[in-house]
Amino acid sequence: MENLQLILKEYIAGDRSNLIPILQHVQSDQGYISPEAITTISNHLHVSKSQIFGVASFYSQFKFNPPGRHSIKICLGTACHVQGGDFLLAALQSEIGIRPGETTEDGRFDLERVACLGCCALAPVVMIDKVIHSRVSVIKLRELLTSYE
Ligand code: FES
Repeated sequence: MENLQLILKEYIAGDRSNLIPILQHVQSDQGYISPEAITTISNHLHVSKSQIFGVASFYSQFKFNPPGRHSIKICLGTACHVQGGDFLLAALQSEIGIRPGETTEDGRFDLERVACLGCCALAPVVMIDKVIHSRVSVIKLRELLTSYE
């Protein structure tokens, strides 16, 4: 993981047009935008922390929690919604105790909702790490979760 200061050295101080590239660089290097990163970027670009947070929260590519060891993406696109995606999300939230955008306290899972994973015929779909799980039921979901440490 690069040091934040090393990352910022690549971008001219005070040049606000660098905000998105810096956020992308930090996201890619550290896996999320930490409060410390927002403060450091704020000092470097002379942009308020609330402005940075406002910009970063507009784009789904930026995360504000450290990634878990396993990333769960639950699809709530039309096909998955119709096949019970919302019900699945509610069960998942209750099972692992977090909402989309959060990471479990033990760092085991992070959770994200997505609009479509491109395999609507297999709905409802859940992706864990890079693996697509199709026609997921609550029972299947519970079984799946036990196989990830
Ligand atoms: S709507 Fe879920 S995969 Fe397309």
